[in-house]
Amino acid sequence: MVAMGLLKPVAALCFVVVAMVGLSACSKEPEIPLSAAAAEGRDVARASGCASCHGKNGQGVTAPSWQGIYLERIPVEGGDTVLADEEYLYRSITDPQADIVRGWTIKMPKNNLTDDEVNSVIAYIKELR
Ligand code: HEC
Repeated sequence: MVAMGLLKPVAALCFVVVAMVGLSACSKEPEIPLSAAAAEGRDVARASGCASCHGKNGQGVTAPSWQGIYLERIPVEGGDTVLADEEYLYRSITDPQADIVRGWTIKMPKNNLTDDEVNSVIAYIKELR
């Protein structure tokens, strides 16, 4: 019975230790403070493989960074620039080949995010300043 009583605090301690180790492993890349809606989008981006190209914090790796792009003019193939508003972001996610960011030869793959998921990723990108 005593052992049973000890089990819970021990488990809790293990959890804290794991959480701390986990945090310190990521301390180079501090989490960006986000609203709940944007944090949901960040989780979608990480869970759906977007982050493997666009970065854990949208900083860009093998794909353009999402940081600071909202309402900027994005140079696209063909010579134009496109305003990165919600409509552009929606199109970029749901129809990746519609506008190609100039200079990128890697093809962004199609995805099957739901409309809600796309909108939460957009909320996330908007908060990445
Ligand atoms: C294999 C790597 C890869 C993956 C995975 C990927 N992308 Fe991309 N993405 C790219 C590349 C490369 C571009 C730039 C070329 C283009 O416009 O298609 C891009 C462009 C974008 C843009 C436009 C960015 C800008 O600067 O205008 C958005 C928004 C975007 N991706 C969202 C997503 C989302 C959301 C996901 C996950 C569902 C995702 N991407 C998954 C490679 C990727």
